[in-house]
Amino acid sequence: MQKLWGGRFAEKTACLLEYFNSSLSFDKELYQEDIQGSMIHAEMLAKQGIITQKEYEDIIKGLAQIKQEIEDGAFSFDISLEDIHMAIETRLIALIGDSGKKLHTARSRNDQVALDFRIYVLKNNILIKKLLLDVAKTMLDIAQEHTETLMPGMTHLQHAQPINLAYHLVAYICMFKRDIQRLNDDYKRNNYCPLGSAALAGSPHNIDRHFVAEKLGFIAPSINAMDSVSDRDFVLDFHYSLSMIALHISRLAEELILWNSSEFSFITINDSHATGSSIMPQKKNPDIAELLRGKSGRVFGNLVALLVVMKGLPLAYNKDTQEDKEGLIDSIAHINMALKILKSLLLNITFNKDNMLQMCKKGHLSATDLADFFVSALQIPFREAHHITGTIVAYAEKNHRDITELNLEDLCKICPQIPQQFLQKALKVLDLKHSMNSRQSFGGTSTKTTQEQINILKQWLKEEESCHL
Ligand code: ARG
Repeated sequence: MQKLWGGRFAEKTACLLEYFNSSLSFDKELYQEDIQGSMIHAEMLAKQGIITQKEYEDIIKGLAQIKQEIEDGAFSFDISLEDIHMAIETRLIALIGDSGKKLHTARSRNDQVALDFRIYVLKNNILIKKLLLDVAKTMLDIAQEHTETLMPGMTHLQHAQPINLAYHLVAYICMFKRDIQRLNDDYKRNNYCPLGSAALAGSPHNIDRHFVAEKLGFIAPSINAMDSVSDRDFVLDFHYSLSMIALHISRLAEELILWNSSEFSFITINDSHATGSSIMPQKKNPDIAELLRGKSGRVFGNLVALLVVMKGLPLAYNKDTQEDKEGLIDSIAHINMALKILKSLLLNITFNKDNMLQMCKKGHLSATDLADFFVSALQIPFREAHHITGTIVAYAEKNHRDITELNLEDLCKICPQIPQQFLQKALKVLDLKHSMNSRQSFGGTSTKTTQEQINILKQWLKEEESCHL
């Protein structure tokens, strides 16, 4: 097919090069944004008297038909036309003739692609945010059921202090909250319209960039044409935000994998969300959680790939930036799926409360409580209290018991220097539920403070959801 830029060329493009140069196979994903941008551009050209009303109407009709053809699968994508911008424009000219040839006035593919991809990124920003909100809501509902479900809190993957399950889940909801805020920030920062920047230096035509920006829903036109056609920060911002989401999903997935192991047995994954082994008939594997963990690899990879493409690029547009699309389209598709799957997986898990409780009785989880009790009851320095408690832990270890299993007789034997009435009280603070509920500092694990956190998050979720109705 005749190329739109063919005027100064005497020879046909080499076949191999045609394929190498073309982005049509992946940027056809941007057809809606391209048509949307062209329609508003044409409206502006007509408003400014650069094209006639009749030409404008022809363009709108032609573009609407092309959209329909693409959606009906009737559009022929010819890679020799290079990209979605030229494929659509060529078809427009074929459909409406000379009016179609005027559409590209005061526009270059450089600002056209910058616009299309920006609209695409902002649209997907909202889509991913909605899916994240859905996951956060699901987790909050689950958390609400478990503010009293005891489980061991870990540091270094070692039993540390008793917490409740809701508190553990709330930690992840906080991560997803930050992801949502990050997406909001990205949206605001990048909500500026590059169209009208033309090739790199702006246009001699009397265009109205403010009109275009407003019509397309942007805050304002971008400030500098050179920056606008070469800027891919908005893509990188989204890559980074998707990477952080992937990172948080991978951490949660890892916990689910651990909790599902026979060593933990904190959860049972419903059969509908587990998989079998082709050789070991007894196996039930957490493949879905493993894939959720593994997706982070490709998403981080896509971020790094574009960082490297952009590094050292001189102003203004360079074809290197055509490499910006496939990786992002890939990351969006996988995070989109991962968030839906994560929600479904969370709804298909049974928490084995008894096993969690039993595990709290291993590792002397309430030892810190005892030290804290000695500090307040005996007014001794924490370091001294720590040491006394250490001797009690050593005694329990030696007798193959957990600190929660010691009785008054044991304590009297180990700490004869401490009056009995204090030791009697000390036994109470060893109780696991007592320990969990004693941590009422703001952000702490007690049922009361966990509920406060849930309430804060519920309120935030309500406000976030109402922003995007
Ligand atoms: N397909 C190109 C891209 O994605 C569109 C812009 C091409 N501009 C140019 N001057 N070659 O970047």
